[in-house]
Amino acid sequence: MVAATHTTSEGWSSRWAFVLAAVGAAVGLGNVWRFPTLAGENGGGAFVLFYIGCVVLIGLPLVLSEILIGRAGRSDAVGSVRNVAAESGRSGGWATLGWVEVVAAFLILSFYSVVAGWVIYYAGVMGRDFFGTLFAGAPFAGALQGETTETIQQRMGDLFTNIPLLLAMHTVFMGITFAVVARGVHDGIEKAATYLMPAFFVLLIAITIYGAFLGNFAEAVAFLFTPDFSKLTAPAMNTALGQALFSMSLGSAALMTYGAYVSRETKLAPTAGMIAFADTGVAIIAGLMIFPIVFAVGLDPAAGPTLVFQSLPAAFQQMPAGSLVGFLFFVLIFFAALTSSISLLEAPTSWGINERGWSRPKSAFIFSFSAFVIGIACLLSLSVWSDIRLLGFWSIFAETNIFDTIDGFTGKVMLPVAALLTAIFVGWRADRKLVESETGLEGGLFGLWRFLVCWLAPIAVALILVFGLFPGLLGN
Ligand code: PFF
Repeated sequence: MVAATHTTSEGWSSRWAFVLAAVGAAVGLGNVWRFPTLAGENGGGAFVLFYIGCVVLIGLPLVLSEILIGRAGRSDAVGSVRNVAAESGRSGGWATLGWVEVVAAFLILSFYSVVAGWVIYYAGVMGRDFFGTLFAGAPFAGALQGETTETIQQRMGDLFTNIPLLLAMHTVFMGITFAVVARGVHDGIEKAATYLMPAFFVLLIAITIYGAFLGNFAEAVAFLFTPDFSKLTAPAMNTALGQALFSMSLGSAALMTYGAYVSRETKLAPTAGMIAFADTGVAIIAGLMIFPIVFAVGLDPAAGPTLVFQSLPAAFQQMPAGSLVGFLFFVLIFFAALTSSISLLEAPTSWGINERGWSRPKSAFIFSFSAFVIGIACLLSLSVWSDIRLLGFWSIFAETNIFDTIDGFTGKVMLPVAALLTAIFVGWRADRKLVESETGLEGGLFGLWRFLVCWLAPIAVALILVFGLFPGLLGN
């Protein structure tokens, strides 16, 4: 038994504020950049189906588990797990779970801000282009007129080697994230979500409709929904699970931290359902927004991480009103990224407040600044530090630079490990009465949820983790 740690006094002003903030945390670069990229690289349909299976059977039960730990523990992720363990008569060592999650959030924030910096840059380029055409009296022109496809594609390579520019964008994004988190749950995080999320949804629907009418929607649907199971290798499954966890912000303290600010009256199960549903819906809609445009101009869906930054601007050049839509597209990604990075920073910030007694601005500054510094290593690894291998001894990271290693290690190792520990903790160790009353589920539904958390989630996560990390075990 251990003593309870500090509990938070902050809270959301309503259930909707929580839903918007949590959906904001979930919907981010993961949905609009990573999901289409991975679906494209891993063959489309089978990956998407497997991904949806992960969401429903593993992700959804874990979303509820994480929020309930937060609300029952009422502290930062480390403190909340420790409090629930104490109340359940279990070892304080379970706080390790909270640690893994907070460290994962902190590491993700470092490279997340770098990618969000690219988004700001592209929003700037497309914005300048759009306003240029607007003032020239041609608001419905294609984007980047007069540039060749090569120069458009070259822009990304140029950006990657332009260290001052990358640094400037990274600084701007981290600075905005800091400014929001430093203002607090109510005045900062909640306000940002209530403005940005509705705007995000309006833009998403508008651009999807644009793509449906002017792009190659049929080919996109076929690509995303026709499964070819031969493409579903063990590493692809590991990637899909890691992506499902990443996308729903699982295993990275965000939901536990936000859960601590939820009032006693809020019913957690339907709220968890809403978060998982909205997140997956947005990922799929983002696929349906991006691929019709990609196919319309005959681009390669498996282009990888450059799909959104290199391929799409080239597509916007050829499409009607491309400069306007291109600009709005990057603004949309920026909004999504910001509400997510806010949650990534809030996780360690709340630890500093509750466990170290720091003021909110001080805590937010310490963590945003340190993540910013690690982010610099990530952005240098795109060019001058590209040969540095952080985990070169490990075969799956033998060829990856600092950026990809931190991305891969958090996504493929830390998040699944945290998800596994969460399932074991909530399913087997936490007091059953406490858990049952927190979920608000009854009878068969509670039984089903418990089965998923106790059995299916841990076994599936463990298998995918082992075979994904050591593909040699399967002989491929
Ligand atoms: N879910 C976010 C996305 O899909 O972009 C990323 C993320 C946010 C991961 C918050 C983890 C987290 F705690």
